Amino acid sequence: MHSDRVSRRAVLALAASAALMSGAQAQGAPEPARIGIIGAGNIGSTLGGLWAKAGHPVMLSSRHPEELKGLVEGLGPKASAGTPAEAIAFGDVILVAVPYKAYPQLAQDYAGAWKGKVVIDAGNATQARDGEVYGEVQTSGIAAVSAKYLAGARVVRGFNAANYKLFAKNAHREGGRMAIPIAGDDAQALAAVSKLVSDAGFDPIAVGPLAKADSFAMGSPTFNLELTAPELGARLGVSR
Ligand SMILES: NC(=O)c1ccc[n+]([C@@H]2O[C@H](COP(=O)([O-])OP(=O)(O)OC[C@H]3O[C@@H](n4cnc5c(N)ncnc54)[C@H](OP(=O)(O)O)[C@@H]3O)[C@@H](O)[C@H]2O)c1
Repeated sequence: MHSDRVSRRAVLALAASAALMSGAQAQGAPEPARIGIIGAGNIGSTLGGLWAKAGHPVMLSSRHPEELKGLVEGLGPKASAGTPAEAIAFGDVILVAVPYKAYPQLAQDYAGAWKGKVVIDAGNATQARDGEVYGEVQTSGIAAVSAKYLAGARVVRGFNAANYKLFAKNAHREGGRMAIPIAGDDAQALAAVSKLVSDAGFDPIAVGPLAKADSFAMGSPTFNLELTAPELGARLGVSR
């Protein structure tokens, strides 16, 4: 009887630790992480190429995925093409790389699909391109507006703070990697994105919670620089 109770306890303990473990795995991202990319333009295709080269399966997406055939063939066997819905379903991690004016539409179309997933938000709002949402960002800050439109996802702002040509030029550079500032509220999501920043060939700098993303928003003093982590950390007041 006593031994039955002990073994029942042992089974319950094992079940509890297995549940905890699978919860932890679900919270981060497996290795290699599958990455779904919404928007296969300048940023999406540049980062998709870097991650594919690092061994991550990537799905680039378009509302016309048949047009991505040549692009994904050029990125090698780890790259594939799909619709935005397919890329979200595919990814352990999602990169959002579309014009900011599309965010309200994304929120309407995909909020249920990315719920609980790690989402890297690379979008910036510009006056010339983004209309009404640009005004919203001017009023509330981009961190708050992204949190609103990407609600339900575990959002990390990242790869927004420089031109894609600098990412293409500096990936894996010698003599002090280029630093990429990231910010988010979820520690596991930040860890997963830090790893993907490293795999793409850069040094991540975790600046703080999502609200801190405003400190490296487009137009901020550190925007579009090619600094190392100690240099950028000093300017953003972040010690590593
Ligand atoms: N360019 C840069 O250097 C840079 C740097 C940092 C951050 N950013 C930011 O990253 C984002 C993307 O910039 P980009 O230069 O890569 O843009 P881009 O080259 O114009 O590509 C944007 C992609 O977004 C897709 N798209 C547009 N509306 C969509 C919607 N409603 N639903 C799904 N997909 C949609 C388009 O795909 P389809 O039309 O094929 O569906 C297109 O491939 C912007 O917010 C930008 O501010 C850009």
